Amino acid sequence: MNKLIVSLLLTLGITGVAHAAGDAAAGQAKAAVCGACHGPDGNSMAPNFPKLAGQGERYLNKQLHDIKSGKRQVLEMTGLLTNLSDQDLADIAAYFASQKGSVGAADPKVVARGEELFRGGKLDQGMPACTGCHSPNGTGNAAAGFPHLGGQHAQYVTKQLTDFREGNRTNDGDTMVMRSIAAKLSNKDIEAVSSYIQGLH
Ligand code: HEC
Ligand code: HEC
Repeated sequence: MNKLIVSLLLTLGITGVAHAAGDAAAGQAKAAVCGACHGPDGNSMAPNFPKLAGQGERYLNKQLHDIKSGKRQVLEMTGLLTNLSDQDLADIAAYFASQKGSVGAADPKVVARGEELFRGGKLDQGMPACTGCHSPNGTGNAAAGFPHLGGQHAQYVTKQLTDFREGNRTNDGDTMVMRSIAAKLSNKDIEAVSSYIQGLH
């Protein structure tokens, strides 16, 4: 009986996600304005503009709602999402999620330290490895909303980790998962792990 209820709940949960899912084809046209910064297929060329290609749909959709509401501040995107509906945001998220993300290269000088942090965390300080949520190859966990990191621009990743640590990005939920992790990272750690992520695939 219990098993039945659990599987029923799981089915309902999955159905709920499916309902909110967007239409990638419709999203392509709606995302035209985004291409100037993020690249037409979501592989941005500028290191301060995040790549969106291949990012998880659920994560993208959440960020779009957070940016639209101001819960996450992105000055460059001020006003851009104001006239977009929930369906528009879902469609755009589906479009970028369906694209293939490109990969960069890690700086050989810091790659060993970066890998150590990504795969091993800092156990002496109670900081878990990044792999637990972002997966060993950096693809994240799309269903759970844990973002794909592999191949992301190191400059963008560095800014996010610093923003989490300094409390300038606070949309990681009540558990403050990324704020508590970033609190344990020095500037050197952030530089190394960000470079490692840029080359990860
Ligand atoms: C003028 C440049 C610009 C334009 C145009 C723009 N963005 Fe952005 N976007 C940014 C910047 C810069 C960031 C990262 C800000 C930061 O460092 O936190 C960002 C962040 C994002 C993120 C969060 C990515 C992540 O990995 O968390 C999403 C999603 C996003 N943009 C979607 C869009 C969509 C959809 C559009 C079009 C409707 C758009 N952006 C248009 C500059 C732009
Ligand atoms: C317990 C799970 C968990 C662990 C462990 C974890 N993260 Fe995260 N991370 C998340 C979640 C969830 C988010 C998305 C927060 C949100 O919704 O804005 C995130 C977001 C991020 C982002 C922002 C991505 C973007 O596109 O803006 C970066 C960068 C990041 N994590 C890096 C790391 C690094 C580096 C480590 C290891 C030092 C790490 N994370 C460990 C759960 C985790």
